[in-house]
Amino acid sequence: MRLRNPLVLAAGILGTGAQLLARVAENGAGMVTTKSCGPSPREGHPNPTVLDWGHGLINAVGLANPGVDEGVKIIARAKEILEPLGLPLAASIFAETVKGFAQVARKIADAQPDFIELNISCPNVSHEFGRPFACDAGDAARVTGAVKEVTSIPIIVKLSPNVTDIALIARSVEQAGADAIAAINTLGPGMIIDIYSGQPVLANRVGGVSGPAIRPVAVRCVYDIYEAVEIPIIGIGGVGDGRDALEMVMAGATAVGVGSAVRYGGLEVFQTILEEMRAFMVEEGHTNLNQLRGIAHR
Ligand SMILES: Cc1cc2nc3c(=O)[nH]c(=O)nc-3n(C[C@H](O)[C@H](O)[C@H](O)COP(=O)(O)O)c2cc1C
Repeated sequence: MRLRNPLVLAAGILGTGAQLLARVAENGAGMVTTKSCGPSPREGHPNPTVLDWGHGLINAVGLANPGVDEGVKIIARAKEILEPLGLPLAASIFAETVKGFAQVARKIADAQPDFIELNISCPNVSHEFGRPFACDAGDAARVTGAVKEVTSIPIIVKLSPNVTDIALIARSVEQAGADAIAAINTLGPGMIIDIYSGQPVLANRVGGVSGPAIRPVAVRCVYDIYEAVEIPIIGIGGVGDGRDALEMVMAGATAVGVGSAVRYGGLEVFQTILEEMRAFMVEEGHTNLNQLRGIAHR
């Protein structure tokens, strides 16, 4: 699959409706990912769910989504708009069980997304769901294998930074049939306390950390995964400008996810990042991104 440019809208950011996804596409993304969709409607956590704490975001949206039956309709509508533009769409899904992942994947496949992304790494629901599947190589492989059995649509597996050896997990999902890896989901969970009330700010008390503060962790994760697997990596985490995106590519990313930066820079952020990447490449005499991919490993 060829992308018109390497920037991908990360899951959970503006990916809730077909029109919103189309706006992101118009503003320059090379591919878009939908908000994660599960087996049935979920309200998510009560407000406040997202906080800008100065060096990034902390969120506990709690996988709010309309459920897979409605999700299929949203993806089908988005596909109608994006297909003529030649813009691929990844449908992000989650479930509480391995079987649940396969069931949601089978239904979502009806809408013919270009990829199905397995969100096995959300840190905000562990009190409900237990330890994320992405925290164990065997669990991560079982989910990947179960989804591969029910669909021929290429699978992206989204990994968690909250593990001691992300390369091990990456290798295990590759062996189970993953077609690509997205890394990373949010870091943590973390906590921000309001010192006047003496209470955590998020109603859920804890949430996943994203944005600039997590970028060095994300770059290191992509670097480790690149050493371990052959499949492409979508590098995500704290990318806000062209320099950050190039860092991801140099660590080994084939494509680069942009999430929290949309909160800081608006939808223009995609064009800005692309222009900054191009300017660097012209200045340094590079004609193709492939020349830069993984060069940090040399
Ligand atoms: C408000 C918010 C909601 C998110 N929702 C999802 C989601 O539904 N599914 C998912 O896989 N990741 C979700 N993420 C994680 C992002 O896709 C991304 O992996 C993470 O934020 C790191 O990238 P960033 O620093 O560019 O935001 C969410 C992140 C934020 C900030």
